[in-house]
This record gives sequence, structure tokens and C-alpha cells, in this order.
Amino acid sequence: MVLSNYSMSPMFLFLLLLSSSFAHPSSSKEDIFIQCLSYHSTVSISFSSTIFTPNNSSFTTVLNSTAENLRYVVPSMPKPQLIFRPTHESHVQAAVICSKQLGIHLRVRSGGHDYEGLSYASQIETPFIVVDLAKLRSVNVDIQHHSAWIQAGATIGEVYYRIAEKSTTHGFPAGLCTSLGVGGHITGGAYGSMMRKYGLGADNVVDARIIDVNGRILDRKTMGEDLFWAIRGGGGASFGIIMWWKIKLVPVPSTVTVFTVARTLEQGGTKLLHRWQQVAAAELDEDLFIRAIIQLTSDSKSGKRTVTTLYQALFLGGVEKLLHVMQTGFPELGLTRKDCTETSWIKSVLYIANYPSGTQPEILLQGKSTTKNYFKAKSDYVKDPIPETGLEGLWKKLMEETNPLLIWTPYGGMMSKISESETPFPHRKGVLFKIQYLTGWQAANQEAKHMDWIRKLYNYMAPYVTKSPRQAYVNYRDLDLGINKKRNTSITEASAWGTRYFKDNFSRLIKIKTKVDPENFFRHEQSIPPLPPKQE
Ligand SMILES: Cc1cc2nc3c(=O)[nH]c(=O)nc-3n(C[C@H](O)[C@H](O)[C@H](O)COP(=O)(O)OP(=O)(O)OC[C@H]3O[C@@H](n4cnc5c(N)ncnc54)[C@H](O)[C@@H]3O)c2cc1C
Ligand SMILES: *[C@@H]1O[C@H](CO)[C@@H](O)[C@H](O)[C@H]1NC(C)=O
Ligand SMILES: *[C@@H]1O[C@H](CO)[C@@H](O)[C@H](O)[C@H]1NC(C)=O
Ligand SMILES: *[C@@H]1O[C@H](CO)[C@@H](O)[C@H](O)[C@H]1NC(C)=O
Ligand SMILES: *[C@@H]1O[C@H](CO)[C@@H](O)[C@H](O)[C@H]1NC(C)=O
Ligand SMILES: *[C@@H]1O[C@H](CO)[C@@H](O)[C@H](O)[C@H]1NC(C)=O
Repeated sequence: MVLSNYSMSPMFLFLLLLSSSFAHPSSSKEDIFIQCLSYHSTVSISFSSTIFTPNNSSFTTVLNSTAENLRYVVPSMPKPQLIFRPTHESHVQAAVICSKQLGIHLRVRSGGHDYEGLSYASQIETPFIVVDLAKLRSVNVDIQHHSAWIQAGATIGEVYYRIAEKSTTHGFPAGLCTSLGVGGHITGGAYGSMMRKYGLGADNVVDARIIDVNGRILDRKTMGEDLFWAIRGGGGASFGIIMWWKIKLVPVPSTVTVFTVARTLEQGGTKLLHRWQQVAAAELDEDLFIRAIIQLTSDSKSGKRTVTTLYQALFLGGVEKLLHVMQTGFPELGLTRKDCTETSWIKSVLYIANYPSGTQPEILLQGKSTTKNYFKAKSDYVKDPIPETGLEGLWKKLMEETNPLLIWTPYGGMMSKISESETPFPHRKGVLFKIQYLTGWQAANQEAKHMDWIRKLYNYMAPYVTKSPRQAYVNYRDLDLGINKKRNTSITEASAWGTRYFKDNFSRLIKIKTKVDPENFFRHEQSIPPLPPKQE
């Protein structure tokens, strides 16, 4: 049954739906949801082709499609009651209204890269549905005004491609991994290889369109500066559903330079990394971003395992200037001309994202991730260089794990110039670098030992990183830091993770949440809680 009588009031419809489900016991909650969608969408289609229920043979394929962490699609994980793939903005409005009316918990997914699978698996509240924005992925670039409207379901790689297609001297400073969905990515900050020059993706958002808890579409003007502040770094899915971001493009030179230089422990790796900690954020030119990627490798001759650090860089300029900058700022790396490749900005994106050399930018239009595994990650911020003895202890810890990975990302430059209150993202001046700890595995039953290893590693690192609070990056979602056990979780409970991600900005986020979503409709394991209702 498709309801097309638009003159019925929502309340009347709601009652009708309920009574029809009682009158026809066969009509399921899914059917009622579809009827409700038809009623509330201004652009009506045959919704049955956009809905996937567990009895549909495509259900798992759709669920898995962008689920980046396999830990959250194993059979034992709770599965959505249905997945809805809207094809028009008004369908998302309708989905909010209908989930509210029918009392079905809603999750929203853009690129599916949430580290804890929050966009497609709910462990605290079942049943739930997933609104998957994969079909809403337009990117409209306006070079003349140095801006673009980008839709939530687009990947950041598609955004980069569409910019580069129109100009070789414009870019956007967001994530390094090209399959991230802009819907979730920018809500948590969005850092990448141009952050030292231009800050985060969220620092370069100038407008947005969001669907609020009442199903209304708001832009910057109608949502107001409080909400506009909260969505640029306050984390995904606490305040509404982002449909579009308007981003400010940044200038990039037509020639940039990239390099990757490897150093093992036997080649003086510890001393060099100690030096990197001192210069990468605090001293180097902000046109230069050198991250350190630390892994275990085995020596080709002896087969002995060692720690290898890859220094991977983007320089916003040509090789001559880069060699000069390195000679004065970081000569210890011993960079030579033959280590360097001059290229375009868009090809530097492919290089940093690890595509094989020669890959054409068109690959970005596939808009999906190429590798998936079971993984767990955690993050830390460092304000004082870790002494060599600390690094040596860290190498011992790495040797205990099969496939450990550390990624150290330098801050400084523009990151130090933006105040901690400018957006909810508070990791600014004084941060030398961020550490990401990662471990991955290939089979579901290996989980326990790897989880145990990474938690012990995290304990080991405590003396060397920020304290009170020990800060973490919200886009590296980590449920070990605490979860909202109930819909009405207490502020004290939530502060366990909230102050780590947002420091004191957490309290402003709570105030804004209380104003825009007092009933806590948009919620998940680590969503911003509203203040409890005032006692009469
Ligand atoms: C392989 C990999 C590489 C990464 N590299 C980087 C990097 O270089 N830089 C960086 O900053 N981060 C990086 N991240 C982290 C990434 O920014 C976050 O995981 C981000 O939340 C992903 O957004 P998404 O839309 O892909 O994920 P999703 O899982 O779809 O969403 C993440 C969260 O946001 C919510 N959400 C999704 N869409 C919306 C929407 N439209 N409106 C409101 N809320 C929404 C979801 O419900 C969920 O809570 C990486 C992650 C992975 C897995
Ligand atoms: C599965 O769902 C798709 C999309 O909703 C639909 O086109 C298809 O007919 C369904 N298949 C079955 C067997 O229900
Ligand atoms: C799948 O389940 C839904 C809801 O329970 C129902 O409407 C639909 O007819 C079912 N489809 C098939 C192919 O069994
Ligand atoms: C989805 O992923 C899970 C976990 O890896 C796997 O068991 C399942 O076979 C996958 N299903 C499909 C259809 O890809
Ligand atoms: C949360 O709600 C439950 C019932 O829904 C109630 O028993 C409990 O007291 C509430 N807790 C707080 C902190 O309000
Ligand atoms: C944001 O967080 C910083 C760091 O804790 C704090 O100094 C600042 O007062 C906060 N700003 C707001 C508006 O809450």
C-alpha cells in the first residue's frame, strides 16, 4: 500500500499506520516504515528498491559494502533491521521523522570508516536501522569562488578528483585515505598532508546543510553559529545528519614534491626519530609535512626482525626549494634529489594514499576502499619529545606483535595558530605530533590477543603523552575510553571519553546538544549527551 494522500495530518497518518498494522498483522515494521517514508517524502519513488531487509539476498553485500572494520560485520554483531539507501534529500528528512514516530533507533552511514563501526552496528540499542548515504554523492566545484558544495556520501577522493579536474592550483586539506566519506570525516576534524599549511578539513568549511531532529533542513544561517560550531569537529551523528558541506578550496602549487625515506634501527633509526620529534612540528617550514610510519620489517640477509621508520612527505613546492629546507631544518635525514619526485597535487594524493606508482587519478572515482581487515586502533598526543629510552622500550613492545603499525603525524604551523575554541577540535598549540597505534588481523578468532596487545601498548605509552586528560582524536573512535550505556547516560560517565576528544569544549557541545536534541534522538555509544531535563 502506498499512501499518497498528502492532505492527511502526520498524526492521523501515524494512527492510521498503527491501526493498519494491527488490522493486518502481516504488515511488518518495514512495511510501515516504507509507507511512512512515502507519506513524508516530497520526492516520492518506489521505496521498495531502496530498502534492504535481512531476508533480501543483497542485504549482506549492502551492509558490507563500505563497512571498513570487519570486526563489526561478523555474524555475532547486531545487524540492522533494515538498510535504507535514499536517493533524494527529502528521503532523509522522512527517515528521521519516521524513525522518530515509529520509535526505531537510527544510525547514519556515509563512508563507513568509523573505527568502531558505529555507523552500521549498534551494540547498545537494538533494533536499529541504517540510513546509508552512498547514493547521495554529488560534488559541485566552483573554481571562480574557490569553493565547492560536497554531498555527505561522496568520498574525499572524489572531492579531490573533482577539484583537480577543474584546476591544477586548487586543493582541499583533508584526509590521506581517499575512501573516507565526507559526511563522517569532516564532523571529526579531518587532517591530512596539508594540515600544517591550512589546518583541518573542518577549519575550511564555510557552510553546511543539515537535517535536524525535526526533519528540517538547516543551513549555516538558519542553524546558527552554535550548531555550526558543533558540527565542525564535535564528532559524527550527535546533532543531526549532514547532507552537504560547503568547503573553501585552498591554493596549491602546480608542482609539489613527495618522498619516502626508510630507516631501520641498525641505520640509526632511534636517534633520527628523536630528532624528527624536535623538528617536524616545531621547526620545519609549514609547506613541508613529514610523517613517520613505523613498522616491523625483516632484514633481507639475516631475516632478523627490525623496526623500520618510513619518513613520508609532501612539500608544497619544487625539489630545489625542498632540498634547501631540508638542508637547514632536518639534514640528519640525508635527503637527496633522487629520493624526491616532483608531481601534481592530485598525484601526490595517490602517492600518499599508497596507490602503485602510475595509477591514474580516475581510480578515485571508484569511491570505495580497496583493503579491509579486522583492526583496532588508538590515539595519543605528544607535547614533549619521547626520550630515546622510551623509544627503545616501545620497540620491544612492537616486537611482541605480528603486524603493528604506528603513524606519527606532525602538527605545528597552522595547527598552532587556530585557537582551541575555534572548533570543538582542541588539539592545537603545543602539540608536537599525534600517534596512531594500529593492529590488524585476518581472521575473526584472532581478536582477543591483538586487543590485549594494543591495550598494553597504550598503558606503556602513558608517561610520554598528554595527561589529565590523556587526549585522543575523535575520528579515531575508541570505545575503550568509555561508552554511553544508556540513552540518559550521565554527563560524568560521558566525560570519561568526552574530555579526551574535546577537552573543555565538551561542555559547550553538551549545551548545544541540549538545545538542538534534548530527547537524544541522535545517539550512539559515544554521542554527546544532553543535560537531563530540569526537575520541576
Ligand atoms: C583506513 C582509514 C584511514 C583514515 N585516514 C584518516 C585521515 O587521513 N585523516 C583523518 O582525519 N581521519 C582518517 N580516518 C578516520 C576517519 O576520518 C573517520 O573514521 C571518519 O569518521 C570516517 O567518516 P565516514 O563517513 O567514512 O564513516 P562513517 O562510518 O560513515 O561515519 C563515521 C561517524 O559519523 C557518523 N556520520 C556518518 N555520516 C554522517 C552524516 N552525514 N552526518 C552526521 N553524522 C554522520 C556515523 O554515524 C559515525 O558515527 C581514517 C579511517 C580509516 C578507516
Ligand atoms: C532485494 O532488495 C532490492 C532492493 O530493495 C530489490 O530490488 C530486490 O527485489 C529484493 N530482492 C528480494 C529477493 O527481495
Ligand atoms: C522480506 O521481509 C519484508 C519485511 O519483513 C517483507 O515485506 C518482504 O516481503 C520480505 N521479502 C521476501 C522476499 O521475503
Ligand atoms: C560480509 O563480511 C563478513 C565478515 O567478513 C563475511 O563473513 C561475509 O561473508 C560477508 N558477506 C558478503 C556477502 O560479502
Ligand atoms: C535513566 O532512565 C531510566 C529508565 O529509563 C531510569 O531508571 C534512570 O533513573 C535514569 N537515569 C538517570 C541518570 O536519569
Ligand atoms: C574549548 O576547549 C579549550 C581547551 O580545553 C578551552 O580552553 C576553551 O575554553 C573551550 N572553549 C569553549 C568555548 O568551551
